[in-house]
Amino acid sequence: MKKIAVLTSGGDAPGMNAAIRAVVRSGIYNDVKVMAIKQGFNGLINANIEEMNLSSVADIIHRGGTILRTARSEEFRTEEGQRKALNVINVLGIEGIIVIGGDGSFKGAKKLNDLGIPTIGVPGTIDNDLGYTDYTIGFDTSINTVIDAISKIRDTSTSHGRANIIEVMGRHCGDIALMAGLAGGAESIIVPEVGFNVDQVCNKLLKGRNRGKLHSIIILAEGVGGAVEMSKEIEDKTGIETRATILGHIQRGGSPTASDRILASKMGAKAVDLLLQGVGNRVVGVNGKKLIDMDIDEALSIKSNFDMETYELAKILSI
Ligand code: F6P
Repeated sequence: MKKIAVLTSGGDAPGMNAAIRAVVRSGIYNDVKVMAIKQGFNGLINANIEEMNLSSVADIIHRGGTILRTARSEEFRTEEGQRKALNVINVLGIEGIIVIGGDGSFKGAKKLNDLGIPTIGVPGTIDNDLGYTDYTIGFDTSINTVIDAISKIRDTSTSHGRANIIEVMGRHCGDIALMAGLAGGAESIIVPEVGFNVDQVCNKLLKGRNRGKLHSIIILAEGVGGAVEMSKEIEDKTGIETRATILGHIQRGGSPTASDRILASKMGAKAVDLLLQGVGNRVVGVNGKKLIDMDIDEALSIKSNFDMETYELAKILSI
């Protein structure tokens, strides 16, 4: 293989730049031309593509976002869009593509592979919702952003003697809520994977107050519902002033943590290795300390495995 390309797709995630850097540099190291596709699958359809060199990825390892920009492409879902993309790939002589993104992006990668272009997926999403891999690029940075917010909100929560509900991202997955909630010492963690009862949350709040606790932090995963509505309900039921904070896109930005940079560097390089071995239709992941790769269909069929043990621990530690 002499010419490959890389794109980022779906929601951005801190560490995507480190992954792009790893793809470009390890490709060039192996005498392969690396093309950058801008704005995800839309850039492929519209031939928004340029060749990268060593300097194109200088000074980006520490930056959040993605220098390639990203998109959730509706057009690539259509046959017409796929036909246009394939035409661009053939005209430019691209022999393999690395797709950095989440499950939707992996479906796009799968489609390209079905069209005859070997593709490798690299998991880049803050949600950590891909069951085949222990971690996705961006998750660690995101939970660090959330715990920073929890600490700040806890200060003012204590000063005012309020309860605070903090709504975090994650789509249908409760991993951000769980891990940030544990690390941030939250009183309650509400996730889509485990049923909850608002009266139990209220009782815990009141019990804490009765023993002199001044603050109360409730972490709510967005997949369960809205923080504003829940704060009203809790305030009505307990009589404790309750405020809602929706952290939103702040969780997707910022300089990636060391863990995310290291994970992204390893995964980006592994994706290039696989393409150069002539392998396609696979995704890269991590199992414990070991990098793994797996068939895309198999990977997508593995449901995200919620860590009940850690959830129970968080409950015990917040009695
Ligand atoms: O998948 C990443 C994510 O940030 C989810 O946690 C969230 O539900 C979604 O993307 C938000 O998407 P958008 O930025 O398009 O509003």
